[in-house]
Amino acid sequence: MQCEGPLVDRFGRVHDNLRLSVTDRCNLRCFYCMPEEAVQFRQRSEILQFEEIERFVRISVALGVRRLRITGGEPLVRAGLPALVRQLAAIPGVADLAMTTNGLLLAEHAAPLRAAGLQRLNISLDSLRETTFRRIARRDGLARVLAGIDAAVQAGFDKIRLNTVAIRGITESEVIALAEYALAHAMELRFIEFMPLDADSNWHSQYVLPGAVIRAQLEQRFGPLVPVTREDRSQPAVDYALADSGGRIGFINPVTEPFCGDCSRLRITAEGQVRNCLFSTVEWDARALLRQGASDEQVADLVRHCIGAKKAGHGIDSPEFIRPRRAMYQLGG
Ligand code: 5AD
Ligand code: SF4
Repeated sequence: MQCEGPLVDRFGRVHDNLRLSVTDRCNLRCFYCMPEEAVQFRQRSEILQFEEIERFVRISVALGVRRLRITGGEPLVRAGLPALVRQLAAIPGVADLAMTTNGLLLAEHAAPLRAAGLQRLNISLDSLRETTFRRIARRDGLARVLAGIDAAVQAGFDKIRLNTVAIRGITESEVIALAEYALAHAMELRFIEFMPLDADSNWHSQYVLPGAVIRAQLEQRFGPLVPVTREDRSQPAVDYALADSGGRIGFINPVTEPFCGDCSRLRITAEGQVRNCLFSTVEWDARALLRQGASDEQVADLVRHCIGAKKAGHGIDSPEFIRPRRAMYQLGG
């Protein structure tokens, strides 16, 4: 294969991180992501097959991608996912293989995923109260998520992190309980600001609960939060150590503190559209190439074009901001 990296954009950002959506389907209906009803899912034939995904990943790795994250929708509703994980883990050059999941199906899948070579898990947990869970996810499932987290711990992943989408009016009363739960389970917890990627377009800046507000709330309860040196400059989160317990809590503040300047992420949707940003309004059709018998070099060129067109930042806070047509479940977080 002649493909060569690295994937560097006009701003000098090196892209070594690929987010791979494997389905747009989900077993929850979180209001910040999906419509409540009448969801228009893609046909099975539109979604990339495992062989197509694997080929795209091999080409991306030749271009310098080293880190993979499997996302959705909810990745675990895609049948046979451990087989894909096994295929991806076997690709030389993949240094980090992670997945973001809502946890509902983890009780049955955690062990097979681990055995297949998955290294790290991010599990979404917005609330520890059934009523709040249902209000956000519009379905039941908290008990199953908690059982899923336990199964993941048993399975012995290198790292398990909890992700909480922070929403003003909902999350304030959950912060302390979530932090205590994470500490008790020796897991990292990260709060993510609500981004304008909800399918119903109800997002408004007034629903954003800034990371700084949560941090102040945590400090009242746990004492000072001490910034932790970043292992990786391109990581979106700012992490803190709790001085007393040694636990770690982080903040992903895309709205109040954009981190686009260090972005290293490239994305492919479940139907094989390559994107250079969650908020991009343009995408590059890798599926067409993969299904038309294109060479690896042609696919590589498409990825290079996509990265070459990447903008400096998302501009959520600017008046010119245009929402992408896709909602989060059609993008992969
Ligand atoms: N804003 C912020 N985070 C979101 N997620 C889904 N939709 C949004 C949004 N609008 C999160 C999920 C999960 C990850 C895939 O992205 O909770 O943690
Ligand atoms: Fe499903 Fe995740 Fe979207 Fe919630 S945020 S509806 S769990 S894909």
